[in-house]
Amino acid sequence: MIITIDGPSGTGKSTVAKGVAKKLGFTFFDTGAMYRSLAWLILKEKIDPQNQAQVESVLPRFQYEIRQAAHGERHYYVNGTEVTNEIRTQAVSMAASQIAIYPGVREEMVKIQRRYGHAVDAVFEGRDMGTVVFPDADLKIFLTAKAEVRAERRYRELVHKFPDLSMSYDEILKEIKERDETDSTRAISPLKKASDATVIDTSDITAQQVIDKIVAMRPKRRYPKMKFSYKFVYWLARIFFKCCFRLKIYGLEHFRPGAGVIAANHSSFYDPPVLSISCPEEVHFLARGSLFEVPLLGWLIKGLNAHPVARGVSDAAIFRDMIELLQQGKKLILFPEGKRSETGQLLPLERGLSFLVQKSQCRVIPAYIHGAYDAWPRGRKFPKLFGKMTVVFGSPIEWEEGADKKDAQARITAQTEDAIRNLKEWLESGARGSPP
Ligand code: DC
Repeated sequence: MIITIDGPSGTGKSTVAKGVAKKLGFTFFDTGAMYRSLAWLILKEKIDPQNQAQVESVLPRFQYEIRQAAHGERHYYVNGTEVTNEIRTQAVSMAASQIAIYPGVREEMVKIQRRYGHAVDAVFEGRDMGTVVFPDADLKIFLTAKAEVRAERRYRELVHKFPDLSMSYDEILKEIKERDETDSTRAISPLKKASDATVIDTSDITAQQVIDKIVAMRPKRRYPKMKFSYKFVYWLARIFFKCCFRLKIYGLEHFRPGAGVIAANHSSFYDPPVLSISCPEEVHFLARGSLFEVPLLGWLIKGLNAHPVARGVSDAAIFRDMIELLQQGKKLILFPEGKRSETGQLLPLERGLSFLVQKSQCRVIPAYIHGAYDAWPRGRKFPKLFGKMTVVFGSPIEWEEGADKKDAQARITAQTEDAIRNLKEWLESGARGSPP
């Protein structure tokens, strides 16, 4: 899901966008920082920002990178050098506004932004997010505020960052007006409200009030409808896990429409049902035929779209069934460790997952299940009926076709293994923010 927040500088866009992203567990992108980073490079190379040809010639050498610090703060790098603070000076502000009018610059920036926006839940703030970069965004906001209020905010922000600031409030007001003029009169992607954007005037309300307004406006995510029989078992099992195991679920924002393999750690017979009912939409999984004979569990998994694998059936036939489900756009639960862990610890992944993903060209949603092992470990005949369980879903991993099929398969296996381990660490270190 993409939310765009556009508007002139000083309207509180960054604070608001950051706040909305935090509240919804989305990723936050400050696209002004990209223009500023390029402007920083232009100034560093002593190029005149008015010289379009020279500015555009720098683009092939512009390597932009965002690194996230442990506490969620974002750091910006240009060609390996950190520029997080340097891009906030007035000189860079003016140069960013000047170079943002060049078609070559905008084209490159839009490309980078769309790449960052692929398959994520994110809040993008800038000038042309709702009009040009993400015209199909799920929610578009346009922030405004009186120029005097914006100058006052910018002045306070700059004094805080640079205590020996030599500029006066009047100079900043003049610059803000000049930048508004450049940004809104340029020929390409001028700063303007998208026809379907909601305008919020932030002159007389606090940032928190703006954040609350936007969060309340966020469209509800629509998942495909469940068939009646599935829904019945789903809710029954959900009530059971919620009441008896105080089930907590994190990371639902990582679900995307369409086919996908949900790949999780495996240490308990409880894993398939608890993972299924933690998903917000219908999922499928394959289960050993003998499991269908276990009282209650058999009924439960049958109702939750488990497909029986008969004894003696070849791996090829099992894979064929799974690929068929994925090709129909369904979501499939897979435990790529290949067997239940005897100790509850994570095991290395087998190759089946990568083969499946490569054949069906779908994405992987990594998941980590905590607590199922304590409730029903391998070797114990009867499960516990009370305890604590948590399911965490991580960012989707997209299949990338490479020149070498084997390399691409090894990559998806390694990425999934890392992702499950990272989800475990995220949970164990306090489950702060959105799961990785
Ligand atoms: O939001 P900001 O002040 O950090 O942006 C710096 C400059 O970058 C601004 O003057 C206009 C330009 N910009 C743009 O043209 N399009 C964007 N999406 C973001 C910023």
